[in-house]
Amino acid sequence: KEGLPPFYHNDDPHSFGFSTSRSRWPNILSSVIHDVEQKYAGSDNQLQIAQGKQIVEDVKKFTQEILSNGSLRPFHNKTIPGLECYDDGLKGFGDLTWMTGPWLFCECYLYRELDTFFKSRSEWTKFDPFEAKKRTAFTSCGSGVNELCVRYKQLNQLLTAKQSKGTVGEEELQVIFEELVDVSLWGNAIDLSLLANATLEELQSRQGADAIAKASKNVLCNDLPLAWDRLRSVPKGKRRVDFVLDNAGFEFFTDVVLSLFLLDSKLADKVVFHCKTRPWMVSDTMIKDYDIFIKDLLTKFPERSEEAQFLAEHLEAYKASGKYELVSSEFWTVSLDYGNISPEETKYGGAELWKYFQDSALVIIKGDLNYRKLTADRHWPRDTPFIAAINKLAKSGIPILALRTCKADVCAGLPAGKDEELIAYWKSLGHEYGELWASSGKWAVISYSSGEN
Ligand code: F6P
Ligand code: MG
Repeated sequence: KEGLPPFYHNDDPHSFGFSTSRSRWPNILSSVIHDVEQKYAGSDNQLQIAQGKQIVEDVKKFTQEILSNGSLRPFHNKTIPGLECYDDGLKGFGDLTWMTGPWLFCECYLYRELDTFFKSRSEWTKFDPFEAKKRTAFTSCGSGVNELCVRYKQLNQLLTAKQSKGTVGEEELQVIFEELVDVSLWGNAIDLSLLANATLEELQSRQGADAIAKASKNVLCNDLPLAWDRLRSVPKGKRRVDFVLDNAGFEFFTDVVLSLFLLDSKLADKVVFHCKTRPWMVSDTMIKDYDIFIKDLLTKFPERSEEAQFLAEHLEAYKASGKYELVSSEFWTVSLDYGNISPEETKYGGAELWKYFQDSALVIIKGDLNYRKLTADRHWPRDTPFIAAINKLAKSGIPILALRTCKADVCAGLPAGKDEELIAYWKSLGHEYGELWASSGKWAVISYSSGEN
């Protein structure tokens, strides 16, 4: 589009797309093969076994196509929702190849193509090739989960006691809000698509109160006070907080804890979680992951089973009463950027979401991929104001709070000079391309747009 910076591309060695397309994608695909093989090895359904073998062949062939820098092929599939959007996108781009194309578009395409292998096999349509990985990652976060379960119980009891005496102070609420937003932000550092090969120790070192306190100084811009003011300005009864979720497992758990606090404290009267309709970017949350989460929370953390149960009961009660809800939309897995959350996008759910978000008190958008879609994954100078980088969304009437640990190139909202400083710092650590500080996951941004710019 005219006047907008170009997209990040996979043939740019200064972009994280370069190594992603050459090594991360093939690794992710090979882990899918492994999980499919595991699944059918334990099956006595002959059709499932035969189809599983076909899927493995498809994934192998697909990996070769990527590694040989083949072209993206149109889907021509009208039965699976959203695929037409990719075909239209391809028409717009012309011929694209896996190792040279625009990173974000190709990456979304990859997950959609993978999904078609399962959706076209009757015995595999519901299979989530990343589910086992999501679960093991969560259950190996023992210390972080235990710690947060205890913290939630404390907070809940503190609030209940104060509420009964009528002594809940505004400042106190704000401090807890900030703490739990921080936890939810850094919960995003646990992303299986990056940490697929991480050891248990590495996973553990990324959570827990100490790790979070250390990381806080790496928040490069922080608009949280604006989001707080917005939340406080919405009259009671109209305070619905929406979360556009990112990852299942530990990050989801941190989003749950923040939500419980919002509901317990009456800062929100309803919380809605927006999930993906299909397996996505390895670890993203689908609605079915909620039940798995409750089950694992209640059975896999014996050291803190009492606190875990306390938390699960509160969450389930909110869910039963309708104050906590999980929904999903096809829009999140089409190829469109989030500027298309607008009345004009009537084909893939953008208009419905736009309407729904008009009466949200706050839309919290989690994680890296969602941030890339907010900013269209364009080469914005990194000191571009966030509201400029999200383009039309800044005028959409939707109040947005983005919580993102930086795991890709695109970044906006930094103070002038910060990018240059971090580039020099990253190089001084011995990295060849300084710009790649932005995909290291060590820094984060908290950005707000009122929707009325
Ligand atoms: O940038 C690395 C990456 O794995 C991308 O492939 C994807 O955009 C994203 O990070 C996933 O991270 P998150 O789960 O935070 O969206
Ligand atoms: Mg994710």
